[in-house]
Amino acid sequence: MKVLVIGGGGREHAMVWKIAQSRKVRKIFCAPGNAGIGKVAECVNIKADKIHDLLNFAKFEGIDLTVVGPEAPLTLGIVDLFEKEGKKIFGVSKAAAELEGSKVFAKELMKRYNIPSAEYKVFYSPIEAENYIRMKGAPIVVKADGLAAGKGVIVAGTVEEAVDAIDLIMRRKAFGDSGSRVVIEECLKGEEASFMAFTDGETVVPMASSQDHKRVFDGDRGPNTGGMGAYSPAPVVTQQMQERVMQEIMYPAVRGMKQEGIPYRGVLYAGLMIGEDGPKVLEFNVRFGDPEAQPLLMRLEGDLVEIMLACAEKKLTPEMVGWKPEASVCVVAASKGYPGEYQKGMPIQGLDEAAKVPGAVVFHAGTADRDNRVVTNGGRVLGVTAIGADVSEAISRAYETISKIKFDGMHFRKDIGARALKRT
Ligand code: AMP
Ligand code: GLY
Repeated sequence: MKVLVIGGGGREHAMVWKIAQSRKVRKIFCAPGNAGIGKVAECVNIKADKIHDLLNFAKFEGIDLTVVGPEAPLTLGIVDLFEKEGKKIFGVSKAAAELEGSKVFAKELMKRYNIPSAEYKVFYSPIEAENYIRMKGAPIVVKADGLAAGKGVIVAGTVEEAVDAIDLIMRRKAFGDSGSRVVIEECLKGEEASFMAFTDGETVVPMASSQDHKRVFDGDRGPNTGGMGAYSPAPVVTQQMQERVMQEIMYPAVRGMKQEGIPYRGVLYAGLMIGEDGPKVLEFNVRFGDPEAQPLLMRLEGDLVEIMLACAEKKLTPEMVGWKPEASVCVVAASKGYPGEYQKGMPIQGLDEAAKVPGAVVFHAGTADRDNRVVTNGGRVLGVTAIGADVSEAISRAYETISKIKFDGMHFRKDIGARALKRT
């Protein structure tokens, strides 16, 4: 088979790495890819949101399966477009992508199908939103309705902060049309975890649990990022908790979408807050998490291509998906200044040395080839991922590996996985 992977981050490198292990696959293309992906797949210079160009490429090359990494092409309707032309593709339809693309849609679905989540109200007018915030008091959470590159959620510790968030989102339109509606919700307490499942619209097969580290600095301080690291499994998700998440959240969500006339086929991602009264949904995503995919795919047993084809063809069975008993950890190396303004084009040293550490893989995120050298090309540059007998061994390996790598301005968190260590 010829497979086309869409995207060019750490998640997509991990997908390409896993897809390359499939016996079904003869050749992999990736659009646009990155320097690391280019070692395993042929990179194609088409951006992930150019869905018509991607279709033309897939037809021209005779691609057998297209796999979508990021949310943007999904919300633009790439799956509908490919399927109309009879091209096989793994991902959710445009209508189903609303689960991530609109917080209001997600909250209403959860309400209709009794899926546990924070109490909320939707506002179309800034004045009414501000009055509600003053009535409720802080802490309180303000969310722009639409996609906002991970920046549209403000967990406000004070009423002033929440009112400022309304001004930013609704009056100053910091996220454009994404801010024409806001969700204001109760601030939940507990420990966060990421929970994903494969589904063909009927059968729902859980993935191993994982946990992301969103803040830029150690000890969960500093601004939010796309994710500075992740590990799997997350000890907070016990076997019993996994069963509750499946029964209370994943099955009702997939069944609910079907009942709404929007079959859901692909990856369903629930960002959870696990507190005293059980798991509650913070957000749904319609794709693999990044960087959660890196440690998860390292633990996946089974043929990812077979699983993805089965999702697209409504033939998914639980036996297709297995997990290595080991733990895995991904530490992200970021550019100086990230998540703010950062520089690009810094040469990266030590990648060959790092590749020699057993049990570790350096997934590339923001990298490019320049004159036969690998240079930085994004905020998150590398996802150094390792597997080990337990989380402690995986952490040591990941940090041993990253210690061999250098680029100007490189920074990374030193405490990835620390919360799991504390629990075990
Ligand atoms: P989201 O993009 O919805 O996942 O929100 C980003 C981050 O904001 C989450 O990972 C949580 O840390 C936090 N968050 C979102 N909603 C809530 C909530 N209702 N209560 C507390 N924290 C929240
Ligand atoms: N790591 C969180 C996300 O992918 O949205």
